[in-house]
Amino acid sequence: MTVKSICCIGAGYVGGPTCAVIAYKCHDIKVTIVDLNQARIDAWNSDKLPIYEPGLEEIVMERRGKNLFFSTDVDQGIQDADLIFVSVNTPTKKSGMGAGMAADLAYIEAATRRIAQVSKTPKIVVEKSTVPCRTAQSMRTILEANSTGNIRFDILSNPEFLAEGTAIKDLLNPDRVLIGALQTPEGIKAQNALVGVYTHWVPRDRCITTNLWSSELSKLAANAMLAQRISSVNALSAICEATGADVDEVAYACGRDTRLGSKFLKASVGFGGSCFQKDILNLVWLSTQLNLPEVAAYWKQVVDMNEHQKHRFVQRIISTLFNTITNKKIAVLGFAFKKDTGDTRESAAITLIKSFIQEHARVAVYDPKVEPEQIMMDLTEPGVVDNRKQVEQHVQICSSAMEAAQGADALIICTEWDEFKDTELDYSKIYESMNKPAFLFDGRLMLDAPKLRNMGFKVQVIGKTELAGTA
Ligand code: NAI
Repeated sequence: MTVKSICCIGAGYVGGPTCAVIAYKCHDIKVTIVDLNQARIDAWNSDKLPIYEPGLEEIVMERRGKNLFFSTDVDQGIQDADLIFVSVNTPTKKSGMGAGMAADLAYIEAATRRIAQVSKTPKIVVEKSTVPCRTAQSMRTILEANSTGNIRFDILSNPEFLAEGTAIKDLLNPDRVLIGALQTPEGIKAQNALVGVYTHWVPRDRCITTNLWSSELSKLAANAMLAQRISSVNALSAICEATGADVDEVAYACGRDTRLGSKFLKASVGFGGSCFQKDILNLVWLSTQLNLPEVAAYWKQVVDMNEHQKHRFVQRIISTLFNTITNKKIAVLGFAFKKDTGDTRESAAITLIKSFIQEHARVAVYDPKVEPEQIMMDLTEPGVVDNRKQVEQHVQICSSAMEAAQGADALIICTEWDEFKDTELDYSKIYESMNKPAFLFDGRLMLDAPKLRNMGFKVQVIGKTELAGTA
């Protein structure tokens, strides 16, 4: 079977870029991305796209209105498609059974029920969202119980491995595309149909075909292992700070072992983003449900170490600033969870700034891509009376690093934006404008600390001490 028309349910960070790239690479396929969120769809149809990713705008502008469409008409999108990506959000459950751990599958279920109700022709339904192992089974049951007539549904798992900030690069040249299917003749036929979409631009040997459950679990496993590397290097950064070892040197020495590899060994203030924590907790919950408490505890520690790293950094800042930051001005550079994205979900900056507010500091934040209202929303506890007022009293949102640093006691690098590099930003001018002593905390190991110390800054770097290199 050849896929001619694709619908993607969910126009978010995954659905938007993924299906825009499919439209860009497959001119013979009509791609419609649908979402219930009118504002989001309006933004996709406007000049200012709802998400920022390098290279995304060019691709959308080239294909929009030709074979790429954005719409709120979910039913029509479903009916016109022969293959449907389900790319809705799967956040951690906030209440009820598994709260704080399990994935909330309510959006997956709603989308699946809609597919069942409005479909008039056979569909290949593809899990694009990250879901717990065996979710495809639940989708099949819902589809079969709710469809009208004798419509055939084949379910595939095709988890997305793009990283925000490099989504377009990753999608154009993926390490691998993973497609899981039931190993029945029909399942394999559907699997081949999706392989046929990707091989428009991805070499066949990079398309891995597996059974459904391996595919579902592989996504959770990949994120858990990636996050585990970060937590491992962050745990080592604590030992470095206490001993005079340098975490960059340790990571480099370890990474030169080809069995380990050098990527993803950068210490930092802690990982963020919508996926790592959520997906590990999802794995923890799955292990718990499977009566594997030791396995659950093992993965849970990756998240706990990440929390510890953020708190350790806050403690280091407070103790360095003479054990109090009350009324001091703290300039935070970067609010997004990583560079080249405007996404702030689970960003370490949120935890840090909330801690600074609790200590009654004045905080000045600057991020090149995050909207001020998003920052305020992230810092405000929903439903807590007067909390917004408290945040507004303590937090100033600035339009440049220079403005944030003016009169500050400390400058904190939270996000590794290129424009914060010491080759880009005028740190000597910043130094002049700050209160003295002028403290600088590098949470991303991106600055030349000796150079900045020479300017007069008191610099502290994660995983390093000024003792490094001394006897
Ligand atoms: P998102 O929150 O940006 O987008 C999801 C969209 O789905 C929202 O716009 C929402 O309005 C829409 N939606 C929810 N229910 C709907 C329904 N019934 N009908 C129509 N639209 C509906 O989420 P994001 O970041 O795109 O993530 C989607 C999935 O992809 C999640 O499972 C996530 O774990 C996974 N993922 C995310 C990655 C990332 O970097 N953000 C990377 C790889 C996977």
